[in-house]
Amino acid sequence: MKDKMVSQKRKGCLIALEGIDGSGKSTQARMLAERMRQEGIACYATMEPTDSPIGALIRQILTGRVKTDNRVIAPLFVADRLDHLLNEVNGILPKIEEGIHVITDRYYFSSYAYQGVDLPMDWVIRANEPNSAILRPAVTIFLDLTPELALERIARNRFQMELFEEKARLVQVREKYMEAFEALKGVERVAVVDAGRSLGEIADEVWEVVKEYIKMSDSGEEIWQR
Ligand code: ADP
Ligand code: TYD
Repeated sequence: MKDKMVSQKRKGCLIALEGIDGSGKSTQARMLAERMRQEGIACYATMEPTDSPIGALIRQILTGRVKTDNRVIAPLFVADRLDHLLNEVNGILPKIEEGIHVITDRYYFSSYAYQGVDLPMDWVIRANEPNSAILRPAVTIFLDLTPELALERIARNRFQMELFEEKARLVQVREKYMEAFEALKGVERVAVVDAGRSLGEIADEVWEVVKEYIKMSDSGEEIWQR
């Protein structure tokens, strides 16, 4: 009897960029996408909160135009993320299934860190289980920057400060990120990158990390889930 050959299409990797506000996530997401395109690697860059109606509501809450309780904000982020994964038009999951690598500026560790300041982190992690059950990132890259430097960078370039951008808050958020990485080590792959350097130095290190996962995925290893 002939061996049954199963041909399986290679899936894309999800790369999540994380960090406190102003740590350089959107800049590095752009640079990483550019690097991948130069290398001829198909990729799609996206972000959270998304530009869906749920994301728009979240932004109104962040700017203080709509007031609500923290226990309401957290599930809104969960719903926005589910739509971000599953949306038929521009969802992450369909891209991954097509073999396209996806770079997201924030994913569920943002909820663990930011919502984890006001709510028990366990609760936030559990609330996000529908998301983590669908797709864990191949790697989460944490752009580590002190809140002082992050706020300096933000102040240089923005007029409006959002709800979460006060120093004491960012100190807490950074601590919560560390707590979440510790709580989930063995479950999640996290690379901490020193974001207090030049754009090029950071981009090179981010690329070194990402390259390895792309190689693994090209060789057929199932790295998007464990
Ligand atoms: P985030 O998306 O994490 O909020 P941004 O990428 O928007 O961060 O960066 C915040 C600000 O800091 C931007 O004005 C950006 O141009 C600047 N910036 C980003 N990375 C660096 C860096 N390595 N050195 C100096 N300024 C930076
Ligand atoms: P973002 O627009 O990425 O801000 P920045 O570019 O300054 O990093 O995100 C807006 C805010 O939303 C940011 O302060 C973090 C917050 N946030 C949460 O509190 N929970 C989440 O799950 C996500 C995705 C974002």
